[in-house]
Amino acid sequence: MTDVRSALKQGLAQLREAQVPSYTLAAELLLLHVLGRDRTWIYAHPEQEISAADAARYFELIVRRASGEPTQHLTGKQEFWGLEFEVTPDVLIPRPETEHVIEVALDRLAVGELRAGRKQTLTGEGLQIADIGTGSGCIAIALAKELPHAVIFATDISCAALAVARRNATRHSVSDRVHFLECSLIDKVPTVGARYIVPLRPEGSNSGLHGSRITEYESRFFDLIASNPPYVGRREAATLMREVRDHEPEIALYGGEEGYELYAGLITQSAAHLKPGGILVLELGHNSLPAVQPLLDAINWTNVGVTNDLAGMPRVLTAERM
Ligand SMILES: C[S@@+](CC[C@H](N)C(=O)[O-])C[C@H]1O[C@@H](n2cnc3c(N)ncnc32)[C@H](O)[C@@H]1O
Repeated sequence: MTDVRSALKQGLAQLREAQVPSYTLAAELLLLHVLGRDRTWIYAHPEQEISAADAARYFELIVRRASGEPTQHLTGKQEFWGLEFEVTPDVLIPRPETEHVIEVALDRLAVGELRAGRKQTLTGEGLQIADIGTGSGCIAIALAKELPHAVIFATDISCAALAVARRNATRHSVSDRVHFLECSLIDKVPTVGARYIVPLRPEGSNSGLHGSRITEYESRFFDLIASNPPYVGRREAATLMREVRDHEPEIALYGGEEGYELYAGLITQSAAHLKPGGILVLELGHNSLPAVQPLLDAINWTNVGVTNDLAGMPRVLTAERM
């Protein structure tokens, strides 16, 4: 028999010995997972005995963590934007820096509302949003929660990732508004029924509408496109932590030999799908900015902005479609 304090002490000693980063947190999270308790409980009950079965399960997870499996693969979950997401080895584990994508997207949408002279309460009414390379669905679902009337298309090239994302959408009760599509970037996003209708007024008149016309841009349908694409260079693979290199999906990590290869297609396809004034929000790799920013040519894009993450790295690139 062992108790909570001893199990924790032994677990973290094993993880420290194996040079696991944040070993105390990892040992705690695994114990919480096995016991089905929260953090307050384990610190309030250090002398509580643990059953032999729970202790065996805990130390089995400690061994797996010590050998490099990410904690999130062992617990099956990760928090993002205050929401709990299911994660499996088929999806990238949502990262805290990706929350900047959500912040920037919401800020830009709010500025758009302000410019249009509308109320500052963003409900997402009438907004069509795309999340390209959705993985666990964390970006699409966080935006769906923040914008309860928005309609969201979330794409991924990985069918296995989309299965996880769909379960996460159900878990967070947004599956009626988040539509998942298996495709490369945004190339299969439907344009049928997505016509961009321009209201017509007679010149000089501010009286009622006098008909409408469908523009030639049938596919320029989205108000916002967000993406955290794969952006690690294959040449950097040896520098990655073993937890990442050996356990997260290659398709989610590598953007090509250099890392930034997917951005050109992403930006071109986004230009074809965003409405005039529509917003593009892209997460960047630690060294992607010099290669990616020049792709936002002045013919198609304006109001280009860069947001740094908490470590001071340029992390999010934003632009507005002309
Ligand atoms: C860096 S992960 C991001 C996942 C999730 N959006 C997040 O922020 O945690 C990139 C995702 O893009 C997907 N992906 C890779 N190449 C793609 C492509 N050509 N078209 C669509 N999705 C792609 C991967 O399967 C993976 O789920």
